[in-house]
Amino acid sequence: MSDLAPFLTKYWKETTITIAIGTSALIAYKKWTANKRLKEATDEEEDDMDGREKPERMQSENFESVDNDFYDDLANCPEKQLEYQPRKQNDNDYYFNSRYTEDEMFTRAKEFFNLMNLRRSCRFMSDAPVPREVIEEIIRTASTGPSGAHTQPWTYVVVQNPEYKKEIRRIIEEEEEVNYRKRMGMKWINDLKNLRTSWSWKKPYLEDAPYLIVVFKQAYALSNGHRKTLYYNEISTCISVGILLAAIQNVGLCTLTSTPMNAGPRLRSLLNRPPNEKVILLLPVGYAATDATVPDLKRKELKDVLIWED
Ligand SMILES: Cc1cc2nc3c(=O)[nH]c(=O)nc-3n(C[C@H](O)[C@H](O)[C@H](O)COP(=O)(O)O)c2cc1C
Repeated sequence: MSDLAPFLTKYWKETTITIAIGTSALIAYKKWTANKRLKEATDEEEDDMDGREKPERMQSENFESVDNDFYDDLANCPEKQLEYQPRKQNDNDYYFNSRYTEDEMFTRAKEFFNLMNLRRSCRFMSDAPVPREVIEEIIRTASTGPSGAHTQPWTYVVVQNPEYKKEIRRIIEEEEEVNYRKRMGMKWINDLKNLRTSWSWKKPYLEDAPYLIVVFKQAYALSNGHRKTLYYNEISTCISVGILLAAIQNVGLCTLTSTPMNAGPRLRSLLNRPPNEKVILLLPVGYAATDATVPDLKRKELKDVLIWED
């Protein structure tokens, strides 16, 4: 150190400037790499949890324009088209249902509303067993949903194995703790606290419920090593899940619609699903615990959600 003293005395200005520039460069580099990591994580997350087509990919200039010959070819190519069937299949089965009287329609609409109005998200589940066949029928029902170009881009993984449920709970709680402590911020946590829907990262219902349904959207399909677009994969999967929720309510079971934030890739790998599948939702399904409670939420009135344009 004493050898350096004359040097530092003589060049203290240059030394100070060099240290200042070096430190600033180091800080800038660290910030840049942190931002890059955050952007990569956000992109991955967007792809995972949201996955909507990026707007620029949907802009018309990115598509090949279609000329009239193409439509003529299509029209002259019946083997490529599905046949249309009459709506009446046999005496009992009609597509689009039988025609009801107006009174019947009103009664059915009211009854269905009464059924669905009792649906609540349940965070206290019983471990009472539920027949597997019921779950199969519910998922069969969900899979009747409409989908972009009839691609049916959903996969429902039903987890019954207690070891897997335990591991899923561990993953979700681990990620949720980081979400609460670092990712969500006070405002989000306060909003949730006020709603009292979720006040901690502890989720015992993930082990209590007899089944966990992990819903995957298929973000794309692979055909001969090429990615094939599955149009509107997320919106289609979400519509299917809406039907699933109604089917669950219809048989007297309950669930909690939950988005396993930041846990998607770990769940995918645990459940051994391919990379084109992204976790959308996690739904514990079973009976509500006898002492289950729900937050006292009020739903919007019809006048707040319906606008007639006569
Ligand atoms: C897309 C979506 C994500 C949700 N994520 C969670 C969640 O992670 N944890 C939770 O406790 N509830 C979650 N919920 C449930 C909502 O909090 C709940 O639907 C809302 O408070 C209304 O209550 P209700 O379902 O009982 O009518 C989610 C609901 C939706 C639709």
